[in-house]
Amino acid sequence: MLDKANKNLRSIFSKFVTGVTAVTFKSSNGLNLGITVNSYTSLSLDPPLILWCLDKNSDLYEEIINLDDYIINFLSEEQRDLANSLAQKNDHILNENQFTSIDKGLVIKDSIGWLSCSKNQIIDSGDHSILIADVNESEISDGYPLVFWGSGYRSLVR
Ligand SMILES: Cc1cc2nc3c(=O)[nH]c(=O)nc-3n(C[C@H](O)[C@H](O)[C@H](O)COP(=O)(O)O)c2cc1C
Repeated sequence: MLDKANKNLRSIFSKFVTGVTAVTFKSSNGLNLGITVNSYTSLSLDPPLILWCLDKNSDLYEEIINLDDYIINFLSEEQRDLANSLAQKNDHILNENQFTSIDKGLVIKDSIGWLSCSKNQIIDSGDHSILIADVNESEISDGYPLVFWGSGYRSLVR
């Protein structure tokens, strides 16, 4: 059970608006997997670096911290269902029709952009690890982002 301070912390954290990404990769046993992540942040332009945070309690933790390469897909507002499905425990499996394979990973179709990343540094911090990655390749597409705020998915008002 969460104590009051922890509940308050969750509430204030949820007041910060983010986009939603799916980190996708082929697992060591050949499965095509993805995990919904909103801790993604751009870190450096020169050299190009990004970071995101991974829960140490994730069933995918060992798999992901041992990955050399993965793709960060920026989800569109049309991809709420996909975001939900890739946030389910004991699932994370991508259907064949949801992605395209490229040299270094799995690109989700109809996302608004993606980054091909490779491991740079992993920093242990609290109940998460911070994963810093080099950006090797990227692509931008049209569309509006899926937004996460107040514990729920939103679309940009326009
Ligand atoms: C909008 C959203 C953002 C999330 N962001 C993160 C994140 O940044 N890091 C993380 O480790 N888990 C994040 N999660 C949780 C994972 O997507 C997923 O629910 C969790 O990993 C499920 O447990 P498992 O990894 O043990 O299967 C997020 C979930 C949602 C719905």
